[in-house]
Amino acid sequence: MALLDMFRMDGKKGFITGAGQGIGKALADGFAQVGAEFAVVGRTYEKVRIVAEELSEKYKLNIIPIECEVSDPESVNNMISKVVEAYGTIDFAINNVGIVCFDPIESVSPENFHEILDVNLFGLFLTAQGAIKVMIEKGVKGTIINTASMSGHIINTPQTTSSYCTSKAGVIHLTHSMAVEMAKYGIRVNCVSPGYISKAGPVKFPEERQGWIDRTPQKRFAGPEELVGAYLYLASDASLYATGTEIIIDGGYTLI
Ligand SMILES: NC(=O)c1ccc[n+]([C@@H]2O[C@H](COP(=O)([O-])OP(=O)(O)OC[C@H]3O[C@@H](n4cnc5c(N)ncnc54)[C@H](O)[C@@H]3O)[C@@H](O)[C@H]2O)c1
Repeated sequence: MALLDMFRMDGKKGFITGAGQGIGKALADGFAQVGAEFAVVGRTYEKVRIVAEELSEKYKLNIIPIECEVSDPESVNNMISKVVEAYGTIDFAINNVGIVCFDPIESVSPENFHEILDVNLFGLFLTAQGAIKVMIEKGVKGTIINTASMSGHIINTPQTTSSYCTSKAGVIHLTHSMAVEMAKYGIRVNCVSPGYISKAGPVKFPEERQGWIDRTPQKRFAGPEELVGAYLYLASDASLYATGTEIIIDGGYTLI
C-alpha cells in the first residue's frame, strides 16, 4: 500500500470521547478529513450535536452526536449500543475525556480526588472496554487510543494537581496492560501524552501562564491540531506494529 494511503480511514467506524471542544474536537475534524465516520461523544449534548452536524455537512459523512457520562457504566453501555446501532461495528476508539482539579494535597476533598480518578481513569477504562468487547465479538482488529498526558510523568509545578497526575500515570500503565492483554485479538492499544495545549490556538496564552511557557524548551504552547497526526498514525494501518506505545508531544517539556 502506498504510504499516504495507510493513513486513510475511509470506511472505518468508531467514537471520540470529549469531542465537543478542545483536543477531541480537533481530532474529530482531522479524522473526518481522512474519511472516518464516528460518534462525537460528550456529556453536553448541545456541544456534540453542533460538532457532529458541522462535520457531517463539511465532509459529507455520517457523523453522529452521543451524550454520555463516561464515569457511569450504564451511560457508557448506552453509548456503545448507539455506536453499534449506527455503524454496525467499532474499528477505533479514542478515549479522550479528562478533567483537572487544582486543590493541593493537604486540602483536596476525598470527593474531588475521587472524581478525577472516576472520570480520567475509570471512565477511560469503561469506554475502552466497551469498544474492546465489540471488537472481540465482531472479530475486528481495532485500535484504541487513550489520551494520557505528560503529567503522567512529571509534576506540573507550580500547579497542585496530584489527582490529575495520578490519573494520567494510571492511564499510561492501563494502556500498557490493555495492549499486552489485547494483542492476542489483534487489537492495538496506544496513548498520546500532550504537553501544554492552548485551546485558543498555538500563539496566544494567558499572561499568568508565562511560567509554563518558559519551562517548555520550544517556548510555546501547541494548538490542539498539532496532536492530530499522532492519533491518526496510531489509529491507522500506518502503525500496525505499534502497541503499548506512548507518543509524548510536549515541546520537549518532559526532557528537562
Ligand atoms: N489541554 C491541555 O493542555 C492538555 C494537556 C495534556 C493532556 N490533556 C488531556 O487531553 C484531553 C482533552 O483535553 P482538553 O483540554 O481538550 O479538554 P476540554 O476540557 O477542553 O474538553 C474535554 C471535553 O470532555 C467533556 N467531558 C468532561 N467530563 C466528561 C465526562 N465525565 N463525561 C463525558 N464527557 C466529559 C467536556 O464536556 C469537554 O467537552 C484530556 O484527557 C486532558 O486531560 C490536555
